[in-house]
Amino acid sequence: MRKRTALILFLMWLCFAGGSALGETLTVYPDAALHAMSQNLYGIFFEDINHAADGGLYAELLQNRSFEYEELLNPLPRQHLTGWQFNTSAAGDGQATLSQDEPLNGNNPSYMAVNVTSAGYSFQNTGYTNSAFTGGIPLQAGEAYDLSLYLRNRDYEGSVEMSLTTKAGAALSDVAVAERMPAGEWTKYSFMLTATEDSDEACLTLTLRGMGQLDVDMVSLMPRDRVGADWPGGGLRRDLVEALRELHPRFIRFPGGCVAEGSWQWDNLYRWKDTIGPVESRKENWNTWGYMQSYGIGFYEYFCLCEEIGALPLPVVGSGLLCQAREPYEAPMNEAELADWIQDILDLAEFALGDAGTPYGALRAEMGHPEPFDLRMMAIGNENWADIYFNRYAAIREKVKEVWPALDIIVACGPVAEGSLFNGSRGKILKSFREDIADEHYYMESDWLLNNTRRYDNYPRDSRVFLGEFAAHEPAVSGRRPNNLYSALCEAAFMTGIERNSDAVVMCCYAPLLARTGMDQWTPDLIWFNGSQVLRTPNYYIQRMFSETLGEEMVDFDLKDAEGEAVKERTSRLYTMASRKADGTLYVKAVNVSGEEKPLTLRVDGAGNWQGRMVLLYGERSAVNSFTQERVVPEESQILLVEGEARIVMPPYCALTLTLTGE
Ligand code: AHR
Repeated sequence: MRKRTALILFLMWLCFAGGSALGETLTVYPDAALHAMSQNLYGIFFEDINHAADGGLYAELLQNRSFEYEELLNPLPRQHLTGWQFNTSAAGDGQATLSQDEPLNGNNPSYMAVNVTSAGYSFQNTGYTNSAFTGGIPLQAGEAYDLSLYLRNRDYEGSVEMSLTTKAGAALSDVAVAERMPAGEWTKYSFMLTATEDSDEACLTLTLRGMGQLDVDMVSLMPRDRVGADWPGGGLRRDLVEALRELHPRFIRFPGGCVAEGSWQWDNLYRWKDTIGPVESRKENWNTWGYMQSYGIGFYEYFCLCEEIGALPLPVVGSGLLCQAREPYEAPMNEAELADWIQDILDLAEFALGDAGTPYGALRAEMGHPEPFDLRMMAIGNENWADIYFNRYAAIREKVKEVWPALDIIVACGPVAEGSLFNGSRGKILKSFREDIADEHYYMESDWLLNNTRRYDNYPRDSRVFLGEFAAHEPAVSGRRPNNLYSALCEAAFMTGIERNSDAVVMCCYAPLLARTGMDQWTPDLIWFNGSQVLRTPNYYIQRMFSETLGEEMVDFDLKDAEGEAVKERTSRLYTMASRKADGTLYVKAVNVSGEEKPLTLRVDGAGNWQGRMVLLYGERSAVNSFTQERVVPEESQILLVEGEARIVMPPYCALTLTLTGE
């Protein structure tokens, strides 16, 4: 954030006694509290879409480290070679064959059986390259990388060298050597490599200097500098964790989305038990979004991530149905299957909350976390609707509440914002599950958000809503919907409406959260990244600004024009909100979704010479950020109120947040 004590684009008149108000006047009444605001309002939704986990937040730099890649609907043997290239040097000869004979364990059935017939045979993992085969493993000169792999020596004699190289084989690190490998058993080897040069396209190259047969599996490479290196999954990419932490999320919803439900066939169901325990024993699964999930970020790691960044965990479990939007799908679970599934869900709650004397609490303790996790809520279903869902929801909910009565349960309210499907779901929830939290999802055109800032004004106050997925969608440019400033401002305007109703809308999160450039399946996304860079979108900055300035109580305010008439949001395209904390801090938000500069007089009733911090995001309507140019970035400055007043000129297309304190 750029800090400025002198305002550049703002014109603020610190002393303007006697001057008549220009433009609109926002008067805030800090002593007039209207309602308590949900303190869990802003969170994040993490789903492994766009390589958010594998190839993203997960620190693993190798793709398909365990040779398990296999599409569920169209399995082909060559998919097991994704990310790998064999016989890459001119020297040596041999053959690498995919094998499942006596694997590392039953959950990790495939490995590479290599038979070297002429010493010097080599093969490479190219990391996360896009479809054009560009990219690879990012390296920073001088940085250390943890390398590990499992080898089984059948009758191999000689050493195995491992190093980071260019695709053509030129050295980019020192060389690790495995030698004198005991025969017959899978054995884990661990090394450290140090990069000698920066690169965005490195490979891990294994060169077999000996001859004979050797089996290879679970080849892993992670930067030593990562978050959670002692978690069983191996840890997370630090720069992305920091980008999430900066959002101050009060909760993390995971692991989906559609991923949580599974698509088309039951083999695709996300089963939390597949994702825990030693990382080499996790049962990888094909992803709804078209790639393999290593589960290196599994449920244990999700809970740890929540702790790491101070967020509450919000796991989403399937409801006994596959993703309803992806018909035709296999039949819903029958009664017996549903009973087993309910037991799985109860086991999950025990894994998080049970003491170390319970079977799943003990498993958690064994994984490194003797204390329970702070699980307070759980969602059953993602985007589901109709009786086929609500009947199963009722059955699951009843059992969960029986055992864990304190858990808040979240009920799906379908995948749309309006219409008969939405109304049907909403009606059913209000009638039958009113004490639960209704999970609304909608992706709408930017202007829809702008025109619906009053959506929640008339929602009953004895029911709660979670806006679990939302984003403003702009028309696609070259096949991708952009994260431009206008979309971010429409979200900001809409969020003033959410804050105004945060006694009924208790949580919300943008979706999707992360996207690896060149490997994305969905746009827009809050944060983009490549191997070594993180791109914060205008939408990201809006989420951060709002999250940083969440009050505890909404306070009264009004917006009037120069004639003293109340101003309507829709005509002025100025959207405002005010709240306070118990310590007296006052938060004011204003969003100008017009192409005109807006002079704004701010009056804080009863205030004297208050001071504070102003954060401003502005730019051209269609401005987007890129890896090479951040065109929309918040600017921070100081603000002073003189006798409770300040004048601000809001630039066209801007959002600002004020944090004010004083006597
Ligand atoms: O956020 C992307 C997808 O959108 C989610 O997986 C799903 O819940 C919704 O349809």
